[in-house]
Amino acid sequence: MAAAENPAPVLSLQGVRLTYAHTPEQAVLQGVDLVVYAGEWVAVVGANGSGKSTLGRVAAGLLPVSAGRVQSPPPPGVQLVLQNPDAQGIGQTPLEDVCFGLTQLGVPPAAARQRALATLQAAGLADVANTPLERLSGGQRQLLATTAALAMHPRLIVLDEPTAMLDAAAAARLRAMVAAQQAHGVAVVWMTQRLAELAYASRVVALVAGQKVFDGTPRQFFYADPPALAGYTTSHPNPAQSAGGTPPALSPRPSLQPLSFCRQLGWTPPLPVQVAEALHSRGLCCGDKPLTAQELGECVARLRLAQSRQAAGGLDATLET
Ligand SMILES: Nc1ncnc2c1ncn2[C@@H]1O[C@H](COP(=O)(O)OP(=O)(O)OP(=O)(O)O)[C@@H](O)[C@H]1O
Ligand SMILES: [Mg+2]
Repeated sequence: MAAAENPAPVLSLQGVRLTYAHTPEQAVLQGVDLVVYAGEWVAVVGANGSGKSTLGRVAAGLLPVSAGRVQSPPPPGVQLVLQNPDAQGIGQTPLEDVCFGLTQLGVPPAAARQRALATLQAAGLADVANTPLERLSGGQRQLLATTAALAMHPRLIVLDEPTAMLDAAAAARLRAMVAAQQAHGVAVVWMTQRLAELAYASRVVALVAGQKVFDGTPRQFFYADPPALAGYTTSHPNPAQSAGGTPPALSPRPSLQPLSFCRQLGWTPPLPVQVAEALHSRGLCCGDKPLTAQELGECVARLRLAQSRQAAGGLDATLET
């Protein structure tokens, strides 16, 4: 079989267990399998303490595992953007910061400066290219950390909650930059607690207490049908039930609609999905399962068109009789 039909994964974790030295009684990662291919954008979602950052450091080869196998590109092929951007800056200014990594790659200084300026421009950081790092806001520093990593053109980029400090416009710019690299075959692993961000991923992996409990597409995660729960077996505890709670009802007619995986976890999906659920509970089907406000708008427009056609058809029928 040709290589293009059977590509080697960029990242492969097999049965990864990790226990921190201070808490040997508790495995933070409990047998995680994860394979990521070139051009994939995998969102890893989980609550506080579920193991996202630990998984990110493992994927970047920075933490030795207690058991299992890890294969990821050696640096600079893998770039990890830490949750705390202050842990990462090198140089006095954003321009120096980005140039430093590039010159380490062997890019000549003039070309490095040009590439750094172009990358800072795309990130919306051109105005502060020569501003001392300590005068940047937390959001600017976070944006810079991702920008510097992207400028290195890695094969795999691991981003740990990269939009936590960003406003909506900066977050959108960052996603566009990441998407542009993804389109060139870069593999993206994006840790997040923001369920709305899953819409931009090609795959969602959900972590609960260090276990992978879901691996599938965003639509499979947010919508109950089809119930493709790769990597999940009923032997895993349902967090909502194991916490003593009852999973929330999806609609006034829950018996007619199985719970989505997101709902089974006791998590509230983003607003566009909630609206689609509410429409569905009233018999209005958004067959295309919208994930974003734009997709929901298109779905509602189609529903209205169908309704007005139906009404016109009914009128025609009345006139004919
Ligand atoms: N260096 C460490 N030493 C000991 N325990 C740690 C260490 N780092 C993390 N932990 C513990 O491991 C578990 C997972 O932490 P981790 O930071 O990976 O989770 P997370 O999903 O990234 O959480 P958050 O959403 O808060 O960033 C937590 O119980 C945490 O307290
Ligand atoms: Mg974390």
